[in-house]
Amino acid sequence: MKIGKMVRKMAGPLEPMLANAYREFFFDVDGFADEVAKLGEVDQVVEIGCGEGALITSLAKRMPKTRFLGVDVCAEVGRLFEGDKDRVQFRCADAQVIVDEGRVLADLVIVCDVMHHVPVEQRHAVWDAATKLAKPSGRIVFKEWLKQGTPIYWVGYASDRYITGDEIQYETKSDWMCQMSAQAPGWGVVGEMKLRPWRTNHAFVLERTAG
Ligand SMILES: C[S@@+](CC[C@H](N)C(=O)[O-])C[C@H]1O[C@@H](n2cnc3c(N)ncnc32)[C@H](O)[C@@H]1O
Repeated sequence: MKIGKMVRKMAGPLEPMLANAYREFFFDVDGFADEVAKLGEVDQVVEIGCGEGALITSLAKRMPKTRFLGVDVCAEVGRLFEGDKDRVQFRCADAQVIVDEGRVLADLVIVCDVMHHVPVEQRHAVWDAATKLAKPSGRIVFKEWLKQGTPIYWVGYASDRYITGDEIQYETKSDWMCQMSAQAPGWGVVGEMKLRPWRTNHAFVLERTAG
């Protein structure tokens, strides 16, 4: 069993608190939710790769009228969500399944700390789903842990690689910019978010620039 999973299992009821504290060291989820909420309250948000629901928990408090769909390929999808379940749904599925069903279109599609877990040759599928799940007027918020030469970047890398035990591939900001233009043609970056507590956390806001 991976070290992270083993520790979480041993933590029992303290697990959500422990998981939050560990994540907070690297990334202020609530601070990010504040920034996303500043984009304005919308009808529908889809988060691709929502994991256990930490970000949707935080967003749902700040966007009390918005409906959320969290989708993830992991079995624990939405497991730690806390809040109003009437307007929040979690699905264990590939995002392409949601596209093919054609029932949900989002004002805002969020992809947060997911793409570095996806092998480079499979990233186009996530981008394809993100762009297709957005309404014509919709936006995408893409958040990543940027590859940098800083000590905290390497601490984050080691945490993902050796504690969480995941295969990951981080990219520099300019490499993500190149990937975005290649994988999301017709979309452009209209805003950026510098996030706490480390500048390694960075989000891009994308909108359609062409038909
Ligand atoms: C670090 S977690 C981030 C969870 C959540 N977005 C957050 O910020 O709290 C990364 C998540 O990406 C998911 N993931 C990896 N590859 C994926 C894919 N191809 N499609 C959807 N989710 C994926 C993993 O299952 C995992 O839950």
